[in-house]
Amino acid sequence: MTEKWVIVYEHHDGILICPTSTTVLPVHQRHNLVTFLFPAKCDRSLLEVGCGVGNLIFPLMEDEPNAFQKIYACDFSKNAIDFVKQHPLYDTSRVEAFEADITLTGAFNTLSDKVDVVTLIFVLSAIHPDKVLASLLNISTCLKPGGVILFRDYAVNDMTQIRFKPGHKIDQHLYMRQDGTRTLFFTVDKIKEIVQSAGLSVIDLCYVHSKTVNKREDIDLPRTFVQGKFCKNV
Ligand SMILES: C[S@@+](CC[C@H](N)C(=O)[O-])C[C@H]1O[C@@H](n2cnc3c(N)ncnc32)[C@H](O)[C@@H]1O
Repeated sequence: MTEKWVIVYEHHDGILICPTSTTVLPVHQRHNLVTFLFPAKCDRSLLEVGCGVGNLIFPLMEDEPNAFQKIYACDFSKNAIDFVKQHPLYDTSRVEAFEADITLTGAFNTLSDKVDVVTLIFVLSAIHPDKVLASLLNISTCLKPGGVILFRDYAVNDMTQIRFKPGHKIDQHLYMRQDGTRTLFFTVDKIKEIVQSAGLSVIDLCYVHSKTVNKREDIDLPRTFVQGKFCKNV
């Protein structure tokens, strides 16, 4: 099913960055998430997991050029990674993008070093529920002790869950979009359980409420996300 993401990027030729997540967290707001959750500016390294076409790293590099010395980005989709590599800010001395399926053991074997910060934004919701814990365990292997994961994803009872039409539900809190990609909705308790099962500590974890303006339907949709900061113990 993850292959559907490849098709989504093929259809859009990398131009429509990510059909869902850019509307819920505009690109020029997403790096605020990093500076808000991880305010220290330093010579540390960042890995954006499930980077799509780099909606977090490039705005971050533009607005906070010194926030990280080294930036890694990975995605399951080759098209997305090719797009990242063609971006004008893709400087191979500072940025390294690579294909990886985070559900697989050894997904990060090619990473040259462990990282200080991982961002995981609207990615776990794209993973099959049976593989979410394995994905977090894999991500944990590429974090330095004391390193953090900055997380945001769809919450249970978010408006998009409520608006799914009958026939799209696959399982509890798991739905199929029109384009064939899946989306999973989380509770704070579920994320806490998975994070702790992966041997990570929860530093912050809460629901975040915001609004998405739907110009076509001329409505403001109330949105609910789960946001958190998790730490790998020293
Ligand atoms: C909803 S998009 C979010 C993209 C980006 N983080 C953003 O916020 O714009 C989910 C991303 O996860 C990627 N993805 C899905 N399954 C994956 C897997 N098993 N391993 C790595 N990336 C995956 C998809 O290719 C897609 O780019």
